[in-house]
Amino acid sequence: MAEKSYHMTPEQFRQYGRDMVDWIANYYEEIEALPVLSQVRPGEVRQKLPGAPPREAEDFGAILADIDKVILPGVTHWQSPNFFAYFPANASGPAILGDLLSSALGIQGMLWATSPACTELETHVLDWLVPMLGLPEKFLSSSLGGGVIQDTASSSSLCAMLAARERATKHSSNRRGCDGRLVAYTSNQAHSSIEKAAMVAGIGAENLRLIEVDDSFAMRPESLAKQIAQDREAGLVPFFVSATVGTTSSNALDPLPAIGTICRDNDLWFHVDAAMSGTAALCPEFRYIQNGLDLADSYTFNPHKWMFTNFDCNCFYVADRKALIDTLSILPEYLRNQATDSGEVFDYRDWHIPLGRRFRSLKLWFVIRYYGVEGLQFHVRRHIAMAQQFLEWVKQDKRFEVAAPAPLNLVCFRHRDGDKNNEELMNCLNRSGELYLTHTRLNGRFTLRFCVGQTNTTERHVEHAWKRIQRETDKLGGSK
Ligand SMILES: Cc1ncc(COP(=O)(O)O)c(C=O)c1O
Repeated sequence: MAEKSYHMTPEQFRQYGRDMVDWIANYYEEIEALPVLSQVRPGEVRQKLPGAPPREAEDFGAILADIDKVILPGVTHWQSPNFFAYFPANASGPAILGDLLSSALGIQGMLWATSPACTELETHVLDWLVPMLGLPEKFLSSSLGGGVIQDTASSSSLCAMLAARERATKHSSNRRGCDGRLVAYTSNQAHSSIEKAAMVAGIGAENLRLIEVDDSFAMRPESLAKQIAQDREAGLVPFFVSATVGTTSSNALDPLPAIGTICRDNDLWFHVDAAMSGTAALCPEFRYIQNGLDLADSYTFNPHKWMFTNFDCNCFYVADRKALIDTLSILPEYLRNQATDSGEVFDYRDWHIPLGRRFRSLKLWFVIRYYGVEGLQFHVRRHIAMAQQFLEWVKQDKRFEVAAPAPLNLVCFRHRDGDKNNEELMNCLNRSGELYLTHTRLNGRFTLRFCVGQTNTTERHVEHAWKRIQRETDKLGGSK
């Protein structure tokens, strides 16, 4: 008699796995017909779920059936080619398969010794990205720096701030906590993750100075320099500056050379956050966005935004890995091993906050190999060209104005008749389910954002979106 077990056998896995893969392939084939923004009301998904968990094992077919009935209506389809909201979080076949393999191997790569391939593939792929993106060579593992995969840009920026804090206080903050005198700087357009980092790192949100921006929403270096001088005069300790390549609101590009020079002259850690827009540097013609990166101490960008690698996958580079490792390394006895003691290996647990880590480099490796550099460049260029075409259409329609420079794949625009009309327009479009876009406020005014970056978006989708926007605007009346 077979031993009692509730586990899925390899044969069952083979069968259900095929069903699941078929479901996913069908989903991608049919995704365009689904309303992009989920139309459920709060609580509606939970109402369809039983109050108690099943006592007896359920058939896998029943579980799969509930994906359609219960889950899909509550999904906003980030992988729809009609998704133009926020910044993208695009996925692709090779990335999904790489992630599946990572789940299947189920390794925990905290130390080199706990799965050497997890560490070495990660180091290798992050080294590949340096020339692929034209990043400074100091970020290579063969230099004093190196790269690591983290869950998000938020975590990377926090780690950068922690390393900067320890460098500035000669490791006394780790031992005794902060004394309230450290001051960090970013622009008033920077992502909220920088403020969160200041809160979590014990710097305090009030000790993060939000530097004013110019007409293009880029940080004013002269205001930064002035603020640093004032803070020094007041007996405070400036230690960290975060600049953004492609702000979330409007895709503004902070002037890295000027900011980096101020950091160098004042001995401040210079961090660069290029969460989405960093991917544009795959194409040599867009590398100008990161001019000045040679002055940076750390750099972060998200393949999980625009590089066809499903969430989560963030790349974090430092110029001086010792500064990062000395900040985050603690070695309890139970993690000691010969490889670590030899000093010949990277133990990536020392490069971020969690101990445990997934084999995330697999999906990035799959993506880079499947597309090739050429394929990635092709699709990034195409996204940018589509956004630029959309920009032209907006310019030609006198009812709209362009609200910010659009150097890459984000167009910020608004109806000339004021906030209420813009909000109404956006809500109508999103309720239609035919496309999804979101808003921001620029100079206090409600502004629509149209970002082209979903994997399967083509010219047809962008044109359809623009026509839908025009049709909805006709209904609003107002400016002709
Ligand atoms: C400029 C910028 N930085 C940081 C983030 C945060 O990214 P993550 O979700 O990876 O923490 C975003 C997200 O949109 C962003 O646009």
